[in-house]
Amino acid sequence: VGENKILNGKQVAKSLEAEVRAKAEKLQEQDIVPGLSVILVGDDPASEVYVSYKEKACQRVGINSEVINLPADTSQEELLAKVEKLNQANEVDGILVQLPLPEQIDEEEVIETIDPAKDVDGFHPVNVGKLVASSTELIPCTPKGIMELLNRYNIDLVGQEAVVVGRSNIVGKPIANLLLQANATVTICHSRTQNLTKHTKEADILVAAVGQQEFITADMVKEGATVIDVGIHRTGDGLVGDVAFEEVQEKVAAITPVPGGVGPLTIASLMENTLVACQQRRG
Ligand code: GUN
Repeated sequence: VGENKILNGKQVAKSLEAEVRAKAEKLQEQDIVPGLSVILVGDDPASEVYVSYKEKACQRVGINSEVINLPADTSQEELLAKVEKLNQANEVDGILVQLPLPEQIDEEEVIETIDPAKDVDGFHPVNVGKLVASSTELIPCTPKGIMELLNRYNIDLVGQEAVVVGRSNIVGKPIANLLLQANATVTICHSRTQNLTKHTKEADILVAAVGQQEFITADMVKEGATVIDVGIHRTGDGLVGDVAFEEVQEKVAAITPVPGGVGPLTIASLMENTLVACQQRRG
């Protein structure tokens, strides 16, 4: 196993964070400190962990962060009022509403209420539209991080077969659009795809964003492919991804580990998005 086969997301994230920190320091000379507000509704344990990672990253790079914890029974009106208040607050550059939300909440309406200029998740329809039409800064964090990783490892995308398994708004759809813009030939597979393996076997770049533990097995992967594992599952013996790492890594040219792959890149991209939102609003 060549050292470079395991794509070191953690290391790339570290260098991205260093770049953000340098830019945040520059802004401080103008007395501007970027600010991120995270709204967490309820007490989903996984969400609490993710939010704590985001807070810690803010501290590392010099972004002011605030976590607003709202009770699980928060009403739609209360949540929208909170978002609107943050839209108005000048020191708040980024607003992130942690998903998933409790069932009484209309997620789409919440996302549409966030000021697109502060939408550091890139989930607002204005930013989604810009992403698809091909020019925007606020790109969803996980896809943005994956593109940075591919870029820094000089993984060629032009004309390559890229297969995305999963069609979520958070990962599948935006990463497919970014790969397309990078001139890959893109296929999106999902839970209703017939003969999934037929597609995944053709992939030079395979993005697994399925949400099922070790779903992608060695027989589904082409020899010499690059595999990006977006999954995070907590098990008895630690974190595992959507890819059966041990068997798949034998076969491929490059693969992201879990942990230490896509996760840290997602956080670093959020830092970048917050910095960009700050620069665009008041830099
Ligand atoms: N839940 C899982 N991933 C994400 C994300 O990227 N942003 C938000 N807001 N919630 C999430």
